[in-house]
Amino acid sequence: MMRLTLRVLAARLYAHSTSSTSMAYSAKIGPSILSSDLSCLGSECVRMMECGADYLHLDVMDGHFVPNLTFGHPMVECLRKSVGQDPFFDMHMMVSRPEQWVKPMAAAGANQYTFHLEATTNPGNLIKEIRESGMKVGLAIKPGTTVEELAPWANQIDMALVMTVEPGFGGQKFMEDMMPKVSWLRSQFPSLDIEVDGGVGPDTIHKCAEAGANMIVSGSAVIGSDDPRSVIALLRTVVAEAIQKRSLDR
Ligand code: DX5
Ligand code: ZN
Repeated sequence: MMRLTLRVLAARLYAHSTSSTSMAYSAKIGPSILSSDLSCLGSECVRMMECGADYLHLDVMDGHFVPNLTFGHPMVECLRKSVGQDPFFDMHMMVSRPEQWVKPMAAAGANQYTFHLEATTNPGNLIKEIRESGMKVGLAIKPGTTVEELAPWANQIDMALVMTVEPGFGGQKFMEDMMPKVSWLRSQFPSLDIEVDGGVGPDTIHKCAEAGANMIVSGSAVIGSDDPRSVIALLRTVVAEAIQKRSLDR
């Protein structure tokens, strides 16, 4: 009995000491392959992983939720076969009725299913279905959606995505006025993965990192660069330094 109590105490002390010196989340860079040569998607994904990407952000658009079309689960299945089991696929589902693609995406080899809060009337049920399919859960909000609307679900998800452009197209201008959403989420949910997506690159990464984002989607800035490896490394360094600073300030 006494031994058990001591062990529990020791575990609590350890948890306290580690939580005050390190963060539960880390800097991760996920290139969005939307702006790559889509006829070579498999080799572009491999190239991004070889350049140091931590994960791949795959943008699914249905021409209804957003005014553009990309690809669906058959493409994801082919990509999975071509890149192997390792790369983490974060599916950014810019679709109406996201419920209908959960099982097909899981079967195709998706690792995380990031749906839009605006696209469903029953986020709780969708979160449950995604988990039951064996995927991680991401919840995205468009620029016009408040972070307070996302907050009730934050303890049930793995990642919150704060869009920093109107979803639908790569290469748009970063919306700095979304940063208060990121800061608020970071203050309320210190260990949540927080992703930003849209117009993020070397010129805008500092704002994202300071606000508390740790998962960084970058499309044109990485894919369009002559040296994607250096851009990915730079983005990660800026975010990692901000995480370190935040942990020292606590
Ligand atoms: C936009 C997509 C983004 C986009 C990012 O709707 O969700 O992932 O491809 O591309 P950049 O970084 O070029 O804005
Ligand atoms: Zn995206």
